[in-house]
Formats: sequence, C-alpha cells, structure tokens
Amino acid sequence: MSAFDIAPGAQVCVIGAGLMGAGIAQIAAQAGDAVLLYDKREGAAEDALGRLRQQLAKLVERGRMDAAQAEQTLDRIQPAQDLAQAQGCRIVIEAIVEDAAIKRDLLASLEGTVPDDCILASNTSSISITALANGMRHPERLVGMHFFNPVPAMRLVEVVSGLKTDARVAAAVERLGARWGKTPVHARSTPGFIVNRIARPFYAEALNVLTERAAAPADIDRCLRAAGFRMGPCELMDLIGHDTNLAVTRSVFAANYSDRRFGPSLVQQELVDGGLLGRKSGEGFYRYDAEQRIIAHPAPPEPATGWTPPPDGIVLHGQGHFIERLAAQLAATAARVEYRPGSDWTGIETPQGQLRVTNGRTAAQLAHENRWPNLVVCDLALPSAHGNDAALAWTAAPGATPAWRAEVQAMLRFAGWAPVQTGDVAGLIVARTIAMLINEACDAVLQGVCTEDGADTAMQLGANYPDGPFHWLRHWGAGAVVAVLDHLDAHYRGERYRVSPALHTRTCL
Ligand code: NAI
Repeated sequence: MSAFDIAPGAQVCVIGAGLMGAGIAQIAAQAGDAVLLYDKREGAAEDALGRLRQQLAKLVERGRMDAAQAEQTLDRIQPAQDLAQAQGCRIVIEAIVEDAAIKRDLLASLEGTVPDDCILASNTSSISITALANGMRHPERLVGMHFFNPVPAMRLVEVVSGLKTDARVAAAVERLGARWGKTPVHARSTPGFIVNRIARPFYAEALNVLTERAAAPADIDRCLRAAGFRMGPCELMDLIGHDTNLAVTRSVFAANYSDRRFGPSLVQQELVDGGLLGRKSGEGFYRYDAEQRIIAHPAPPEPATGWTPPPDGIVLHGQGHFIERLAAQLAATAARVEYRPGSDWTGIETPQGQLRVTNGRTAAQLAHENRWPNLVVCDLALPSAHGNDAALAWTAAPGATPAWRAEVQAMLRFAGWAPVQTGDVAGLIVARTIAMLINEACDAVLQGVCTEDGADTAMQLGANYPDGPFHWLRHWGAGAVVAVLDHLDAHYRGERYRVSPALHTRTCL
C-alpha cells in the first residue's frame, strides 16, 4: 500500500464516453467507486449512461444482476460538464481518441486541474506512455491502464509503466484493477505492450499462408480453432476490421524501425484498398448476411473413418501428443506397432510411406533430403485441440502416390482428426503460428516487457488464447520450436523467423 492507493468508494474520473470509457465507468461503479464521466462532445456522457441503463436492464431481466445493484451502479456515475469537476479525484483515466497530440493536450489541462498526487492513467492501445509523459510537470504519475474490449467481459488489464512512471503508481493501479475485478499484468511501455505485440504472428502467419495461396481462410480458421483458439485468425481479422488491424500492424512495424518481423501484409492491404473491411462492411475474408453472420458454404460430407492398419507393421517415430493419440487408437487393434521414441523425427512409417509431423521444412524438402518420395507431412497436433472439428492440416511431397495420400487421410481420421489438405507451405498452419507466438513472447520477456507468467496470463485473458506461449514452449520443447523457426528462416531467408536469443538460450538449459 502507498499514498497513491485508491480506497473503495473513492472519486474517479473517466474521460471519453465512447466504447471503452463507458465500459471503464461501468466496472468502476460496479465496484462501488463514484465515477465522473466526461466527454468533450455534449450529451455523449448522458448517451453512454442511457446505453448502460439499457444493458443493465437486460441483465436484470435475465436474472444476472439484481435491480438494486443495477440502480446503484447507475447512480454512482455522474456525467461531468467540465474538466474542472475532476479536481477532487484520486485518479483520472482517459479513453479519448487515439491521437498522441490530443492526449497530450488533455494531460496538460488535467495537470492544471487535479492535485499533484492524483494518478493520471491512459487507456491507449498503441501510444508510448514514455512519450505521452514527456513534457508533463509530473511524468511519474502517468501510467497506462490498458483495458480490453468489451471492458466488462474481458478480464485483463495491462498496467503499463513508462520510463518515468513511479513504481508505487503502477502498483496502486494494479491493486485498483484487481479491485475492479480484473487481472492486472504489468508491462513496460514498448510498442504493442504485451497482447498486441505477442499476438502479431497469429494474424501474420495466416496472412503469409494466404500470400502463398496454400490454404483458404476457412481452412486456416478450422485448423487454428481445432488447436483450441476460440476464433481463427481470418474470422478474427474480419471482426476487428482490416483497417484497424492493418493500422495496429503498421504502428508496431513503424515503432520497431521497420523490422520485417512485424511487416504488414499485401493481402490485408488489398482488402482495405477494396473496402472489404470485414464484418462491418459486409465482406472481408468471408461474406456476411444482414445479421453479420458468415454466409457459409455447406461443408462436403466427411468420408467414413474406417482404416485397417497394414499387417506388416507400423513404426511410430518420436514422442508427443500426435504419437500418444495414434498409439492409444492402435492399442485397440491387432496391429503390430514398433516404437522409436528416440528417432530424430516424429510420425508414422509403414512399408508404403512416411507421415511426418512438420519440423518447418516443406514436404518437398523433406522428401528430397531423406530420399523418400512417398512422404506426407502433417501439422502440429496440440492436446488442447479437438472440439467438434479436430481439423489437422496435411500436405504431400510431389512424388507421394495417390494411394499413400489416401491412406494417410484414413489414418488421421482413424485417430480422430479431420484432415485438411493444404499447399506445400513450410510449417503448415498451427506449427508456424505457435512457434512464432512463442518466439515473440520470448523476445518480449528478454526485453523486460513482462514476465513469462505475465505473458501467459495476458494472452489467455486478453486474447482468449487456449494456453499461454510459455506453456506451449514447455510442452513442445525449446529444441523442436527452434528447429521449426530455423527451417522457416532458411526457407524464407528474411528477418521474420529469426530465433529470439532467449529461446536459443533455453535450448542450452
Ligand atoms: P470511441 O471513439 O468509442 O470513444 C472516444 C470518445 O472520446 C468519444 O466519445 C469522443 O467524443 C471522446 N473524445 C475525443 N477527444 C476528446 C477530448 N479531447 N476530450 C474528451 N473527450 C474526447 O473510442 P474507443 O474505442 O472507446 O477508444 C478510446 C481509447 O481506448 C483509444 O485510446 C483506444 O486506442 C483505446 N482502446 C480501444 C480499444 C477498442 O477495442 N476500441 C481497446 C483498448 C483500448
């Protein structure tokens, strides 16, 4: 506890009564604090209160909130007519337009209004807290308080320290976030903070696969949903809006001195140029009906799942979820199975051909290197996978026979996966995405942006990931992740797939 701590029932001020400001006012009021809500547009705060009244009435109707609690929440929010009314507040949180100059002007006026020990917090999603603090009389009291949309539902708040932020201010804001029902994760002010930075490859890898025309958006989404993500990257980009997503990518790219690792995609630029912004414009990767539902094409019927293991034996190479799952299914058959857990590759071998789990090489490269043309490669299978649709990507070397391709698909169905054929793209879909998310998280920790636990919590609560990047890393193993990235790096010969020094170090532990 410090002098900056904000006691329950304190007066707080939220500036900007838009999407985020209204949500922040709501959670503060629900926690018992008195909220002043100010917006420069006349009537905006009253409009936000009106919308909140309707939302809370619905919650009461559905029995999710009692009427008295809804009434108290609304009573605790007062629209303010003038910034001067903020003078008695312990904290002012701004959620105004994302424009550094306008935010700076606002901070300067606030410093002329509130006492010196009042915390000033910014909900900015992309502007440096260090830069916003530059020129303030008391830069040590500025802190980022980055909520996620929709504020009442999303459990994460990133508490962002700039160079000058007082550690006691950040700690008090973390405690305030927790009191408001959120899980605070501390971040150092760097481009994209935690979630928007680590999440870049989730979009970028899908866009790279699309650039190579190796899979359709719906197939990419299926495979990543099967890996446990609530939404695939293409449907998520459609939801966020391609204009917004491209703007965030551009800002992280520019802020990193045009590091190719964060480079924007021509595929997304083309959608923006064409006005195909996603759900809000009726079309993006998908087309939407009047209720903004995807106009889906009927899925082709899945063939029967029957597969008879070859009588002359199966060799299971390597270890991990893929092998465990196959072994469990094979145990129920009379098949003769040999295990080679120490093999330098993971997959299945029969006298007919090989099915290898991707190591970041294309199927053509693997077939060539191993002088084994009858080769199929499949994607990384995660244990968090398997909802209704356990889609798993696969691709074949040019010399793979039609019989082996068919056999592999039957084998995958037998083990409970829905095979999705893609072009021969290195690292397929899930493996390259997860490897890059891990890599980015390692770099973020290396650069002191957050802790490993902080990264895992932030990605799970701020982006709804099924697991955190360091959890995946522990499960998959640093050596395997580095192998995938190194192979991608050799294949693309760019900066994008360079391995984080922190990840390299882990292979030596
Ligand atoms: P919004 O456009 O819904 O609301 C912004 C409000 O600020 C408007 O009502 C506007 O009239 C008011 N405003 C603009 N300039 C002002 C000023 N000088 N003084 C007082 N009021 C002013 O925007 P939204 O989406 O709520 O975003 C607000 C902030 O939150 C931005 O910094 C944004 O980057 C950040 N943010 C947005 C997220 C999102 O998903 N929309 C997520 C996390 C952060």
